[in-house]
Amino acid sequence: MIETKPHLIIGGGIMGLSIGCRMLREGLSPVEIFEAGEIGRSSAAWVAAGMLSPRAEAGFEDMDIYEEGLRSLERYPSFLAALQEEVGEIVPEIDRCGALLCATNRDQARELDRQFEFRMRMGIPVQKLSGEEARDREPLLATKVIAALWLEADAQINNRTLLHALREAFVKRGGTVREHTPVSEIIVKDGEAIGVRTGDEERPCETITVAAGAWSSRIGGGSRSVAVRPVKGQMIGLRMTPQSRLRQPVRTPNVYLVPKDDGRLLVGATAEEVGFDARVIAGNVMELLHHAWELVPAIYDLEVEEVLAGFRPATRDHRAVMGRSNVHNLFYCTGHWRHGILMAPMAADTVVNAMLEAKTELAEPC
Ligand code: GLY
Repeated sequence: MIETKPHLIIGGGIMGLSIGCRMLREGLSPVEIFEAGEIGRSSAAWVAAGMLSPRAEAGFEDMDIYEEGLRSLERYPSFLAALQEEVGEIVPEIDRCGALLCATNRDQARELDRQFEFRMRMGIPVQKLSGEEARDREPLLATKVIAALWLEADAQINNRTLLHALREAFVKRGGTVREHTPVSEIIVKDGEAIGVRTGDEERPCETITVAAGAWSSRIGGGSRSVAVRPVKGQMIGLRMTPQSRLRQPVRTPNVYLVPKDDGRLLVGATAEEVGFDARVIAGNVMELLHHAWELVPAIYDLEVEEVLAGFRPATRDHRAVMGRSNVHNLFYCTGHWRHGILMAPMAADTVVNAMLEAKTELAEPC
């Protein structure tokens, strides 16, 4: 019997899992995910805060990313509904909690004014609040908060629960996960990706999708034109008490605090160009906690549950690399910078649509 060659995905983070699930739904099978560490846990998505926050994160230079973020957020309900059909109640819900951008001094207030004007010009729904109005929305904010922007339409999700649900759905649909199996090389022959090398093994395949986040450019072979670098983010997980439960994510230019439905309060994050140095550094933790305490003094008494570092996959212009490459049967889904959780539905659609399109082209008579 001839074995059907598998579709391989390199990377078991939010992108690899989302793509794998969508491929199996579209009848592209079998699918195998190769993950250098543990599925979900070794990825940037594990360390992420899970903000679905295109309006809060919109930057002057990133309007395309903002538009794509909005489109991806619109797809979230159907993305989750498909998962729910497969694995039911373990799928997290979108928390449409809004987001607050705060200023704790005059410089930050001036910056907030610029951010407000920019959003108004771009037609992004936003409301300007005084310090008192901000505290009405979020009573835990410090009295030194003098102004804020309220972004009502932003949301968040429990990214860890989502990773778990995606893994379960992938396996339930017949997908295979191979953990602790780093891919050293993509084997290309005559302009076509034909397999991967992992240790001593060569695994032939139908297609390859590189969704290895910040590690995507480290894999040998493949398309040389994809350049992704790691931007380290350190993050602290605190345990909220009933008295210190924030209602929505709050942030200043220095820090964000994101309350999760499992009782964690995430304080993040640094953005460092230090390669793959995964150490958590005292000074950075101290600064993050200090900024967080200035914004929400009640964090002072909270238990520190975890301190983590993750690596955002960044391209030079912060645009993601999604879809076909210049090598036949080789696809990429990486470089989602700060927006991996938000972009997962759209990224999975883009990559799997590109695969289906390539397959149709091949089937068409010349
Ligand atoms: N999106 C949050 C971060 O990258 O820190």
